[in-house]
Amino acid sequence: MRPIPARVVESREECERTHVLRLEPEEPVGWEPGQFLMLGIPGVDEKPMAFSGGDEREIVLTVEVVGPFTERCARLERGDWVWVRGPYGRPFEPVGNRAAVVAGGTGVAPLVPLAERLRGRGVEVIGVLGGPHAERLPRRRELERLSDEFHLTTEDGSAGRKGYPTDVLEELLEEDRVDVVYACGPEAMLVRVVKLARRFDVPCQVSVVRYVKCGEGVCGSCALGRGLLVCRDGPVFWAEELEGTEFGDVRRDASGLPEDEDRPRS
Ligand SMILES: Cc1cc2nc3c(=O)[nH]c(=O)nc-3n(C[C@H](O)[C@H](O)[C@H](O)COP(=O)(O)OP(=O)(O)OC[C@H]3O[C@@H](n4cnc5c(N)ncnc54)[C@H](O)[C@@H]3O)c2cc1C
Ligand code: FES
Repeated sequence: MRPIPARVVESREECERTHVLRLEPEEPVGWEPGQFLMLGIPGVDEKPMAFSGGDEREIVLTVEVVGPFTERCARLERGDWVWVRGPYGRPFEPVGNRAAVVAGGTGVAPLVPLAERLRGRGVEVIGVLGGPHAERLPRRRELERLSDEFHLTTEDGSAGRKGYPTDVLEELLEEDRVDVVYACGPEAMLVRVVKLARRFDVPCQVSVVRYVKCGEGVCGSCALGRGLLVCRDGPVFWAEELEGTEFGDVRRDASGLPEDEDRPRS
């Protein structure tokens, strides 16, 4: 796909290590919640980011600062020019009437527009957002506003309930409160989400991250095993599609080698 120039119309610190950008592309970019774009900064690089709100004329991104590119994103100012390429990937598929929307940290990015879409269809949304502590709960207000019922968790108990989003999800499933689960966040969390959904036999879609270079199904960088490519067949997968893949097991870096577990992850 052709890169489209886009002007930064808003750039603000959302919470600790997280920045929200609002971009105005020169041409409309149609997208669905769960899809992603390639964001390019001239002279720097081009990286995948989930559509995190807005519409085809104004795109919102939620960026966690984890390395050189995302640090540069956080220094973008109103009036700067970037480019966007996309949309790419398979979006979330709305099913069911009572949805758990489960976000771990920046994993909230694609779930804010998903919650908005679900609400628009009359689906009851139970939002769950987790982070390490009170200062790292991105898009908290928006997800809360879009949820019929909202739960916060922090690992240190400084906001909401002490624990993990999956603790809340387990209770919701035990009480038969939801008929579909959507999730995005660290892979360890997604593995637990998938296990829980399977245990309670509830349909579940998760958004998976792999190293994306071309975004167009050409380079093979984002291979997940069993012939699946994250940029083409995902990033949103049904839980059962992930069986027998590298999901929850291996994650590769830019060179295709397994990533060092100690390195920070998005
Ligand atoms: C489909 C998809 C959607 C994403 N959506 C978001 C989002 O909405 N918000 C957000 O903050 N991040 C998102 N990411 C992750 C984001 O692309 C990386 O955090 C970013 O590229 C890191 O670049 P860096 O130079 O700052 O860090 P680096 O120092 O290069 O890397 C830090 C971490 O980011 C990972 N990473 C680096 N480059 C890529 C890449 N090209 N593809 C995937 N992972 C990479 C590395 O493996 C490492 O774990 C998404 C990734 C994918 C695949
Ligand atoms: S990023 Fe190139 S095939 Fe997916």
